[in-house]
Amino acid sequence: MDELGQVQADFCMHGMAPFPCNIFLIGFMGSGKSTISACLREAFSLEAIEMDQLIAEREGKSISDIFAQDGEEYFRGLETQLLVELQDKQGVVVSCGGGVPMREENVATMNKSGLVVLLKATPETILERVKDNHSRPLLEGHKDVAYISGLMEKRRQKYEAAADFTVVTDGRGARDICAELVKKLLELIKQKEGD
Ligand code: S3P
Repeated sequence: MDELGQVQADFCMHGMAPFPCNIFLIGFMGSGKSTISACLREAFSLEAIEMDQLIAEREGKSISDIFAQDGEEYFRGLETQLLVELQDKQGVVVSCGGGVPMREENVATMNKSGLVVLLKATPETILERVKDNHSRPLLEGHKDVAYISGLMEKRRQKYEAAADFTVVTDGRGARDICAELVKKLLELIKQKEGD
């Protein structure tokens, strides 16, 4: 049994299901949010919400088309609105768009219903993961380490301030990352209960 299998077994043994809170995954584009969300969904039978996917479905167009036709501010408004809707849910894992933590009101909304986990990766890893994908308007024409590290640095403070804790994703498998994430999450929940 791998580490995540062990965490799953402990989780069931302690009768924790359904998951005691929502999990908001934040981080830079390509940091692993969608992959980790899918792994958590599988392992803990959670409902998983992909913010970008849901927004694109509702608007009937891709994120790139929303940016091009309606503008970034309009898209940011949709993100804020969606987070407000999600605050009434329990036990969902939300893969947030990379820009979500930049608005303080979004962070406040996430804090009301769940814990916020920052996924981190180096600019080199990010580049490798996003280089063949064309669905991220902010990176089109900027697929290089210098640009990615610049934007990452601009966002770093807000990302870190929003996060309850951080998990590094470079060079690791999804199950290994999920095991660390859930262990830290349960520790934090226990600690909060003890306060
Ligand atoms: C964005 C990240 C994207 C998407 C949009 C803007 C950002 O989501 O919301 O392209 O500002 O970082 P992912 O982080 O899921 O790629």
